[in-house]
Amino acid sequence: MGQALQKNNKPHHIAIIMDGNGRWAKKRGLPRAAGHKAGITNLRKIVEYCAAEQIEALTVYAFSSENWRRPDQEVSLLMELFISALNEQVDELHEHQVNIRFIGDLARFPQKLQDSITAAATLTNKNSGLHLRVAANYGGRWDITNAFKTIAGKISRGELELNDVDEAMIQQALTLSDLPEPDLFIRTGGEQRISNYLLWQMAYTEMYFSDTYWPDFSPECLAEACSWFESRQRRFGRTPEQLKQSERA
Ligand code: IPE
Ligand code: IPE
Ligand code: MG
Repeated sequence: MGQALQKNNKPHHIAIIMDGNGRWAKKRGLPRAAGHKAGITNLRKIVEYCAAEQIEALTVYAFSSENWRRPDQEVSLLMELFISALNEQVDELHEHQVNIRFIGDLARFPQKLQDSITAAATLTNKNSGLHLRVAANYGGRWDITNAFKTIAGKISRGELELNDVDEAMIQQALTLSDLPEPDLFIRTGGEQRISNYLLWQMAYTEMYFSDTYWPDFSPECLAEACSWFESRQRRFGRTPEQLKQSERA
């Protein structure tokens, strides 16, 4: 908890819901596909910015468990875009020391996409730069359900006592357990909801909502979100007076 009492510096781990691609395209009289392409171009810029700013981790929501409900054509287009973006960009990201992994139920994806995901993770596995996590077919409830199954499995095999289950153990069984918890959450596109994103991991995350559509959310917009974050007083349950006292000490 010591961290909570210090002055807020730049975030360690930024989690983003990249929303508004469709509306960005509509505003320009373009098909939704154009919005998704522009969204991927923008993600690349944001990744570069985070790497240059030495942000430890960036987790982006690329495809939610619920996005399968979209028209088949849009789902297939997104899959194609993910495959080509990964294949085209992985070598350069690797050169920049970016460490890439996907979180989510990947088994439902086309084999070609699963292969690209595995190749990217293997290639960049040892990189110590920006930890880029792409949430794909991800849902916070899926994540928690998985953790529950892992722990319940150990109990049923007699490897673990029910009374030994604690928050730290649950956290370890969830995705992103190797990273600091997200300290800054950003949702672009004007909606103010979590849409089944990192439900457990964002228990104490600062929430920033921007009306800007994702393809227009530039590194300057991200810098603005980071300065907003730096102005937050993270109290973690304490009173403002307690924080002042500990600053003086
Ligand atoms: C986010 O943009 C991208 C994905 C969900 C894949 P949207 O496609 O949700 O864009 P809007 O919300 O329709 O504008
Ligand atoms: C959430 O966006 C998921 C991603 C950005 C990938 P949506 O635009 O699908 O969210 P809802 O369903 O409208 O809340
Ligand atoms: Mg949307």
